[in-house]
Amino acid sequence: MEQSESTVNNSLVFAVNGKRFEVSTIHPSTTLLEFLRSHTPFKGAKLSCGEGGCGACVVLLSKYNPVLDQVDDFTVSSCLTLLCSINGCSITTTEGLGNTKDGFHPIHERFSGFHASQCGFCTPGMCMSLFSALVNAEKILRPEPPLGFSKLKVSEAGKGLLQEISAAVLGIAPLLMPVKVLQQMLIWRIWGLIPFGERFLKNETRSTLLLDSSRYSWYNPVTIEQLRSLLGFVEDGNGTRVKVVVGNTGMGYYKEVENYDKYIDLRYIPELSVIRRDNTGISIGAAVTISKAIEALKECNQSGFHTEEDMVYKKIADHMEKVASGFIQNSASLGGNLVMAQRNHFPSDIATVLLAVGSTVNIITGLKSEELTLEEFLRRPELDSKSILISIKIPDWDRIMGISSGTKMNLLFETYRAAPRPLGNALPYLNAALMAKVSRCTTSNGIIVSNCRFAFGAYGTKHPMRATKVEEFLTGKVLSVGVLCEAVKLLKGIVVPDDGTSSPAYRSSLAVSFLFEFFSHLLEANAESPDGCMNGYSTLLSPAKQLDHGKIPTLPSSAKQGVELNRQYHPVGDPIEKSGAAIQASGEAVYVDDIPSPTNCLHGAFIYSTKPFAQYIAFVVADTQKHADMAANLAVVDYDMENLEPPILSVEEAVRKSSFFEVPSILKPKQVGDFSKGMAEADHKILSAEIKLGSQYYFYMETQTALAVPDEDNCIVVYSAIQCPEYAHGAIARCLGIPEHNVRVITRRVGGGFGGKAIRAMPVATACALAAYKLHRPVRIYMNHKTDMIIAGGRHPMKVTYSVGFKSDGKITALHLDILINAGIAVDVSPVMPQHMLGALKNYDWGALSFDIKLCKTNHSSKSAMRAPGEAQAIFISEAVIEHIASTLSVDVDSVRIKNLHTFNSLIFFFEGSAGEPFEYTLPSIWDKLATSSSFKERTEKIKQFNMCNKWRKRGISRVPIVHEVSLRPTPGKVSILSDGSVAVEVGGIELGQGLWTKVKQMAAFALSSIQCDGMGDFLEKVRVIQSDTLSLIQGGLTAGSTTSESTCEAIRLCCNMLVERLIPIKEKLQEQMGSVKWSTLILQAQSQAVNLSASSYYVPDFSSMRYLNYGAAVSEVEVNLLTGETTILQSDIIYDCGQSLNPAVDLGQIEGAFVQGIGFFMLEEYTTNADGLVVTKGTWTYKIPTVDTIPKQFNVEIMNSGQHKKRVLSSKASGEPPLLLAVSVHCATRAAIREARQQLLRWTGLNKSDSTFQLEVPATMPVVKKLCGLDNVENYLQSLLS
Ligand SMILES: Cc1cc2nc3c(=O)[nH]c(=O)nc-3n(C[C@H](O)[C@H](O)[C@H](O)COP(=O)(O)OP(=O)(O)OC[C@H]3O[C@@H](n4cnc5c(N)ncnc54)[C@H](O)[C@@H]3O)c2cc1C
Ligand code: FES
Repeated sequence: MEQSESTVNNSLVFAVNGKRFEVSTIHPSTTLLEFLRSHTPFKGAKLSCGEGGCGACVVLLSKYNPVLDQVDDFTVSSCLTLLCSINGCSITTTEGLGNTKDGFHPIHERFSGFHASQCGFCTPGMCMSLFSALVNAEKILRPEPPLGFSKLKVSEAGKGLLQEISAAVLGIAPLLMPVKVLQQMLIWRIWGLIPFGERFLKNETRSTLLLDSSRYSWYNPVTIEQLRSLLGFVEDGNGTRVKVVVGNTGMGYYKEVENYDKYIDLRYIPELSVIRRDNTGISIGAAVTISKAIEALKECNQSGFHTEEDMVYKKIADHMEKVASGFIQNSASLGGNLVMAQRNHFPSDIATVLLAVGSTVNIITGLKSEELTLEEFLRRPELDSKSILISIKIPDWDRIMGISSGTKMNLLFETYRAAPRPLGNALPYLNAALMAKVSRCTTSNGIIVSNCRFAFGAYGTKHPMRATKVEEFLTGKVLSVGVLCEAVKLLKGIVVPDDGTSSPAYRSSLAVSFLFEFFSHLLEANAESPDGCMNGYSTLLSPAKQLDHGKIPTLPSSAKQGVELNRQYHPVGDPIEKSGAAIQASGEAVYVDDIPSPTNCLHGAFIYSTKPFAQYIAFVVADTQKHADMAANLAVVDYDMENLEPPILSVEEAVRKSSFFEVPSILKPKQVGDFSKGMAEADHKILSAEIKLGSQYYFYMETQTALAVPDEDNCIVVYSAIQCPEYAHGAIARCLGIPEHNVRVITRRVGGGFGGKAIRAMPVATACALAAYKLHRPVRIYMNHKTDMIIAGGRHPMKVTYSVGFKSDGKITALHLDILINAGIAVDVSPVMPQHMLGALKNYDWGALSFDIKLCKTNHSSKSAMRAPGEAQAIFISEAVIEHIASTLSVDVDSVRIKNLHTFNSLIFFFEGSAGEPFEYTLPSIWDKLATSSSFKERTEKIKQFNMCNKWRKRGISRVPIVHEVSLRPTPGKVSILSDGSVAVEVGGIELGQGLWTKVKQMAAFALSSIQCDGMGDFLEKVRVIQSDTLSLIQGGLTAGSTTSESTCEAIRLCCNMLVERLIPIKEKLQEQMGSVKWSTLILQAQSQAVNLSASSYYVPDFSSMRYLNYGAAVSEVEVNLLTGETTILQSDIIYDCGQSLNPAVDLGQIEGAFVQGIGFFMLEEYTTNADGLVVTKGTWTYKIPTVDTIPKQFNVEIMNSGQHKKRVLSSKASGEPPLLLAVSVHCATRAAIREARQQLLRWTGLNKSDSTFQLEVPATMPVVKKLCGLDNVENYLQSLLS
């Protein structure tokens, strides 16, 4: 049992950022992230998903490799890495790269300099991924780059960032940045690589790697014998819970709440860690990481394919690269994956692929050792906790396929996976690996299948399976369309998901698609021979050829950003670096959870109802967040449902029961024109068509959080990540029964809000305050991601019924909408929804527009505003109507759009009071300009050609306009000039990542510079925006609706103007005396003359101009894969009118980020509930936001400077929300591509009719798209060939 003394280290020793840590006792379940955040000053690594799915917690781990006498550096997710497993290692967090005092690292500088940080919560993780890519590029044996250049390739950097799902929501800038940054980075050689690791690792940890097991309950057996004896422990029957562990990434999926008493780390047993290759195959130890396995498999064919085995290894490695993300692959073991597949029925990719290639495994159980085929291993009863997987062997194919050497045969091998994200970090709907030996038939002209193995997995069965019947059927057959048809039929009967699996028909159809794709190049290459056989044999001559699918690159390939700078209000209008971006990158920016816990601090967790009322029902507190979460999990809630009405879970039910929230008349939008008259003028009518729209989760990276600290005399200070501190302030005072002056709510920055940290953050802050007040102790909460997702509410789902009348030329004469909005259980801000919807719905001239909007009160969680609330749904409705009209008239959709674009007169008619001046109506010029800049017409023609030439890929293009009404709200501001001339600015608006502070800084510098002192060139440096404090600046209101930045800037301008007015007389006097006047002299003089150097204002927008319209247009082109339903966005071009942008870099980030979040809404994100109304997509495993691989491959954004707008703040316009609506262009383009697919399907089925009217749901996920393209399109195609 005990480990030999010579190798035992008494303490757990490791280094963090060069600092040596020696931990004498710790629970073995403690993660590295928990330790970093609670026992070190380094808060750069953040907790977000806690399941290995987001990248916020990524750090660099450096480890001495005694075999190669070198240091290995790789990223890991610190939220899953167990602290005891890093004994002897060195950790680098982003703080280790550089900081404010010692200077930032070039990576930090590049992230901030290229505007690649928005809310900043995910930035440290991204920095570490990039840093790791740079470090490892330097180790690659490549020709030395020119002096000053790094060896890193842009593609490698892009891949490094791929893992960071966070980036997508927070703006495209962080996503595309690496490409730009890396191009820049190539001009400097990375410095400071592994600043600390090398020395620490070599001096201190070379010989002592193992922990004192008795002290840490952490065992590092170094032989199988030791392992065997340790496993005896498991059956002691003394209640000891033992866990065998390698990378512990399985916790990301299973999130066991159970705490184990002892851990056995398998990584030090040589048999489990070696990789051997000989002429019988390649054997990989079970503890070998996926990264190392990939490396080994790729090593076999570094200079091209030499053998078919090499080709197979390469493809296995390629498939493995799509398993999770790099930082998981670096610690996840092959064995762990297979054991999860075997024991827990995990939908593994690796098991499927290795099954197809006939792998075998070695396991030990007690004293018994066995060698089994992977198939036997998977099928046998679930592995017990005493059995250990030792190694996996991928054999030599010829043996598996039973081919004797010398036979003239070719090996076909391919792996497939259909997943929401093409490059990984998303479990597949189905995966497959297909292998076949084929040869030219000597009697016919065709190709004969001599042997084959087909494995399918992850489709909703316990294990991956071989399609044995299909294999048997095909073996010995000459391939023909008829044979393929039969094989497909057989396969459909085999790949059948278990009951309860989502999208079962889709998954089965994928299996058919993959089998077809596997053989299709034989079918396509030479077409069929006269005897009906497939004879594309020539394509098989080189194994490498099988790789060449001519696929679109999976990472973004280019991006253009266009701005017209405006120097009139310098430094307003300059693309200056975002305030605080560098400290966000270096991890020094302080978010609520980074504030050190005060003494005696307690941690809270919510218990929520699991019955369809989705509400908080209790708040528990404990000594740590982990314990509070565990307690909340363990709570048993008894529900007495007797005599209760059944819950209302649909808007239809709400209508039946008349369950509605009232919309105050002031918030009710007005009908436009005379609907009956419009309908009477129509040549055509569509009556009562229906649309349904789902919800969307905010997916901020920082979950809901607050810290409440009791203060003297019944006062309380609450640090809250909230968009409306003022409202929380009032709620806390009312809840505690104390006057409002006893409460202070402080908000410095918020790690992403998107509307979810407005009203929804109030109960979080209030619960902490209440507990702190009652218990007289500080109480904090950092909500776990799952609870956050269940409780958040999100965007409003709705059902819409429309009737529309239109002329034969496409001109719409009248539209009526019945809209049922699911508002959930509480009213929240739902009454603003009708007005918001109408503010975007009126983007076309509908002739007349009438509507009936009902806010349905249901038993779902309360819905709240989410970025572009109501507007995102409205744009979809309006485009759905346009598309419906075009398909009814069988005309081009773009022509219907053009026909119904507003004239300035119709704009005034629809937007009474907010249409502005005629010159301000820029949409027509944007529309035309975009057509030219995106080559819309030429590409439309090219797409027609493409669609004619391609059966399984169809393209679509679409151009959409937006008109989006926003409104300004009153906002306070305060500017104070300190004695040294530095300036402190307080604002009501909250910095959420939208760049509010940056614009405010620019405005303060601009307005104060008007005093024209000497040496004000770097005045921006003198201005600091400080955290919001509800007692220092009252009436802060709500940061939402895209306009807070501009109103805040205006409030600050008013303050500055007051100060300038006070300072001017003094300056003039000084000028007379001294000639020139320095700012510092002026301020000292003003101080001595007792001038009030602090000014506050409350900006109240003028009623006549508080509402205004924003314009933009987008063209998107997509390609749909008809076999899988995957949609690839090939290109998006946007032109957006920003007035005169206050900061074009910030606005570009907003436009790109909003567009990407819109892609999420329209194409990817399913925020679904079960039959009881409870959220089922409650983590990164099931909720898929866009990542680098799902955004446009080419992304061109132009900010239009539309000149002077007298009634706007320095002629600027909003950018936060309207561009989200432009993403509907992607959805419309997808619809266009699907329309082509359906026409083709009709031709295959011999039905020569037109079928252009269909509904494409939101989000248009892969199953949705595939269903519309035909779940049985392969079968129909094959049949068409036969008939
Ligand atoms: C975010 C994320 C995304 C992922 N995506 C994918 C994906 O797309 N496709 C895919 O196939 N996989 C995916 N995975 C799964 C991943 O491959 C596994 O989590 C990983 O391989 C498990 O290895 P580990 O060393 O971390 O195992 P651990 O977490 O240490 O162990 C997992 C389980 O296996 C047991 N165990 C481990 N090794 C052995 C052994 N040798 N003998 C007996 N028992 C053992 C442990 O006791 C534990 O019960 C993903 C994982 C994460 C976290
Ligand atoms: S917090 Fe670790 S990956 Fe998300």
